[in-house]
Amino acid sequence: MPNWLNDAVFYEIYPQSFCDTNDDGIGDIEGIISKLDYVKSLGCNAIWLNPIYDSPFMDAGYDVRNYKKVAERYGTNDDLVRLFDEAHKKGIKILLDLVPGHTSDQNEWFLEAKKAAKSEYSNRYIFTKSVWDAPPQYRMMCGLCERDGNYMVNYFSSQPALNYGFHEITHPEWQLPCDHPDCLATAEAMKDVMRFWLDKGADGFRVDMADSLVKNDDDKIATAKIWRGVRDMLDTEYPNAAMVAEWCNPERAINNAGFHMDFYLDHYGNGYSRLFRYGEFGDQAVFNPNGKGDIKAFADEYLPNYEKTKDNGYISFMTNNHDMPRVTAYLDKEAIKLVNAFIFTMPGVPFLYYGDEIGMRYQKGIVSKEGGYSRTGSRTPMQWNSGKNLGFSTSDEPYLAVDKSADAPTVENQKDDPDSIYKVVTDIIALRHKYDDLKGNGELEFMYEEGKIPFAYKRGNLVMYFNPLGESAVMNAKYTGKTVYALGNAEFADGKVTMSPQSFALVEIGG
Ligand code: NOJ
Repeated sequence: MPNWLNDAVFYEIYPQSFCDTNDDGIGDIEGIISKLDYVKSLGCNAIWLNPIYDSPFMDAGYDVRNYKKVAERYGTNDDLVRLFDEAHKKGIKILLDLVPGHTSDQNEWFLEAKKAAKSEYSNRYIFTKSVWDAPPQYRMMCGLCERDGNYMVNYFSSQPALNYGFHEITHPEWQLPCDHPDCLATAEAMKDVMRFWLDKGADGFRVDMADSLVKNDDDKIATAKIWRGVRDMLDTEYPNAAMVAEWCNPERAINNAGFHMDFYLDHYGNGYSRLFRYGEFGDQAVFNPNGKGDIKAFADEYLPNYEKTKDNGYISFMTNNHDMPRVTAYLDKEAIKLVNAFIFTMPGVPFLYYGDEIGMRYQKGIVSKEGGYSRTGSRTPMQWNSGKNLGFSTSDEPYLAVDKSADAPTVENQKDDPDSIYKVVTDIIALRHKYDDLKGNGELEFMYEEGKIPFAYKRGNLVMYFNPLGESAVMNAKYTGKTVYALGNAEFADGKVTMSPQSFALVEIGG
């Protein structure tokens, strides 16, 4: 286990929307380099960079045309190496995004595979034997190739699925077993891509749709086996490199597949969604001040997963990511402060999505860009200052329009505001680095009563008390001590704590 993970706080950067230095309206690597000090000043010591590879951008770069080449709009491979070097000088690690489940339909491998002539790439993707064979249970593209066959896609139509084989074979005429040499070659090709970037200085990967490799693999045993092989490679050749799975099944991702971290994604009704986004416009979220949320539903799902995996890896909470509406679409400012207090004091390795530190707003109703659709509203440019395009770019045609509201939050106008989300985010991240009890690992005791909210949890010698309700509330205070950080008021007396509306207290036991 790379030991840097225990104190890691990640910042997710969507490169096209972060900082444009060459005035073409699109963020670039140089822009990211210019903001490394900013990332560091937040308390983040690691970055997850969304795909930065050559791509036709039908899915914002998750459709990779060339895994070993940086997209020209972002810079060159040398620029990316410079980013690794500059980040390392400042103590920041960089994870790239690995997209192992599919490529762009313009990837060289696919251009070869779709030809009638056989080649070493003929089995790199999943083709039926004839164009007249299109079993409806699979998502097939039909009639687009010289080759006589249909091919399976993994996500959008432009993203053909790579072939790691089938666990259960239902159509032996075209489905290959996972141990077929051509399926093993696909996994080797992906390891080759990983080595290419790790050798250049990358610190690991966020892995896109990590559970999607082997088909007809309901319990994901065959998919996990492939990742175990990748983990073995890392342990032997790159023991400091880390992988975080987009999987949202910690037992499978961490215990079976060997990922160091697994994202707790917003799957409607799961523990994570219950916290911040559940119900119509978040009206049943735990952090909604209306009190309709259910912390028990969160705890009942999260705690067993935590207990099962805590010795092998980390569950990762995110403030948001590029696929979900920003939490500003659901909760008010005071609630969002509590959300951040929660995310950055829980176990695991937390991720901060660019712009969430200033409370950037989800932009409703904007036209889809590069396959974003409803996700586009969370992908608008970073808001730095009051300049043109809020400091993102001097171009007249930015990648996406910035928030046009007069009171749009920017780093400039939030930084010195004592009442800002920015202040809470940076304060709490600093506390996480200060106290060993707030690091990624360790014990967790969750506390809530019949009314379920307020609630608290203990980590080592520290206890976090939360009252997300819009009114004062009282709960039993099993542990008391010195309040080292607070949002609102918490009065401890007679074994109880009385908390003001939408408040948080971090207490050091016996302190
Ligand atoms: C998950 C990524 O986060 C998302 O943005 C992308 O569209 C799909 N996987 C397909 O790669």
